[in-house]
Formats: sequence, C-alpha cells, structure tokens
Amino acid sequence: MSGDRVYRRPRHRGALVLPLACVLPLIASGCGKQDVLDPHSHPAQRISTLWWVMLAGASIGFGVVVLLLFLGWARRNRESLPFGGGERAATILVVAFGVGVPILVLSSLFVWSNIFVIRSTDAPARGATRLTVRVVGHQWWWAIRYPGTAAVTANELHIPVRTPVRVEGTTADVIHSFWVPELNRKVDLIPGRENVLLLEADRVGTYPGQCAEFCGLQHAHMEIRVIAQPRAQFRAWLARQSAPAVSTTSRGATVFTDETCSGCHEIRGTAARGQVGPDLTHFGSRTTIGAGVLPNDPAALRAWIRDPQHAKPGNRMPALPLSGADVRALASYLEGLK
Ligand code: CUA
Repeated sequence: MSGDRVYRRPRHRGALVLPLACVLPLIASGCGKQDVLDPHSHPAQRISTLWWVMLAGASIGFGVVVLLLFLGWARRNRESLPFGGGERAATILVVAFGVGVPILVLSSLFVWSNIFVIRSTDAPARGATRLTVRVVGHQWWWAIRYPGTAAVTANELHIPVRTPVRVEGTTADVIHSFWVPELNRKVDLIPGRENVLLLEADRVGTYPGQCAEFCGLQHAHMEIRVIAQPRAQFRAWLARQSAPAVSTTSRGATVFTDETCSGCHEIRGTAARGQVGPDLTHFGSRTTIGAGVLPNDPAALRAWIRDPQHAKPGNRMPALPLSGADVRALASYLEGLK
C-alpha cells in the first residue's frame, strides 16, 4: 500500500541552513582589512566609540529583558511583585521601566549620534581646507582628480597625512557609495548631485575602502585605496602625477595609439584622449589593475590585456586581437608610465 504513505518533508535541510545562514555572515564579516573598529582619524574614532557604547547598551538591555523573562517564568504562579505592593506599584514599574527608561535612553542616543557624532564626521566647507579631491564613481572603478592641478588618477587616492581633505563625490552612471571604514563614514555618489566627505588620516599608511552600494555585476570589485603620505612626499607625488607622460616612440606606445586603446583611455601628452576608462598617464605608479582585481605587475597586466573579461567579467574593456609581441610591448610601455 505504498500509495497511502504520508509524505514527510525532510527536516535536516532547514535545520542546517538556518544556523549556517546566521553564522557564516558573522565569520565572513571578520575577513579583510577594512575595519570600522580600527579608527585612524578623529571622525572614525567617534564612530567607533558610538559603536562600542551602542553594543554595550544593547547587551545590557538584552540581558535585562532575558532576566525579566526568566523571572516572569519562575514566578508564573504568583500574583504579587517580588517586593510586595499592589496593582499601583506594578503600574508605576511598567510606566517607569517599560516607557520612561527606553524614551530616555533612545533620545539621548539620538541626540549624541545625530547631532554630535555626525557633526564631527561632516565635511569641511568649500575653501576651508587646503586640499580638495574630486571622486567620480564609474562601473566599476573610481576616477580621482585634484582640482587646480592636471593630476588624474584612478582607484588610489593619495592624501597628505594629518591634513583634512574635502572629498567631492559624484557618479558617471549609477549610484555608488564611497567608504573607507578606518577614516570616516560612507557617502553615496548620486547622479547629478555632489556629496562631500571629510577625509583625514592620523598616520601614514594605506587604508582600503570599498564601494558600499550595490552597483552591478562587479560591485564587489570596486576597491578604493587611500594612501596617506608625509606632506613632502605627497607634494612630490602630486607634481609627478600632474606632469604629462614622457613621450616615447616605443612599439608599445605605437600599439596603444594605433589600436583602439586610445579610444577609451587618456595618456596625457600623447594622442590618446579617450574618456571611457581610467586615465593611464601614470599607470605604472599604481599598485593594482581593475580597481583591486589584480596586482599591478607585468605578468598580470599581460593577462589582463589578453582577456580583461576573465578577471573582471562585465567590465567595459574588450579583448583586442593583438599578437603576443604586441601584448608584451604594450604591457612594458604601460608599466613604464611611472
Ligand atoms: Cu560601485 Cu558598488
């Protein structure tokens, strides 16, 4: 009588999926080097303190609720409060602790976080800082300009250490979000709008950041690096980046101009004027290719040129029908653009 068998849904799958779904994101959240709780600027310090205070408060609140639940369960057959008192005492207790305390705690938290902490993370007014940087989000990379200079770079934002910098951000396509957790809060980059952010680092170093708003297929490969340098070193870097590329008649340079590369990329000082992809004038001075997808070395660059869709599927760079010798020449030319 197999037809009479009652169908039973297998239970084991659900029983496994739920704990995994809870635990895996928690484990994954510890991966990588972007750490809100390792602040390296005054605003990031304030955000981190707020986070710890909220965690402590929430833990205490949770503990008290669990304790009260347990107490309620243990005393479920008794009618009076533990310390006596009638219905009036019970009403006072509910109003004071159930309504009064939450209102007090939540409004103080609101005032502290929304007025004091957020204000300390606000961007300085136009003209209030010595340095302004313009960031434009693209699918899936960052264009970075230093107004007042000819410097244009991509995916690596250099700043002088211990100096407030005003970052003005917008987007060339969809909404992106600029976030360098160790330095400040995130700011959305929105079409047709300019949002500003304060960026400063109290120590020399490289601070990794990430696009924090889903923006399409390669959203996860949209890394930004903030590189804080001693002031003299930063000035020298900016002067080098502002200069045009050293002109050369190498085979790589010819391939770049003759093939379609120059239709999408600019190399200042040459005939290449494309504005679709990143400016490559000083490409060799950057540390990664494709906004953090590959390290910037000759082997990785050759692989990228041969098949850009392999490392970062969906990006706008096509594979060109180049000979092996042309790929090598192109890679060595680009790596030489320091
Ligand atoms: Cu850009 Cu996500």
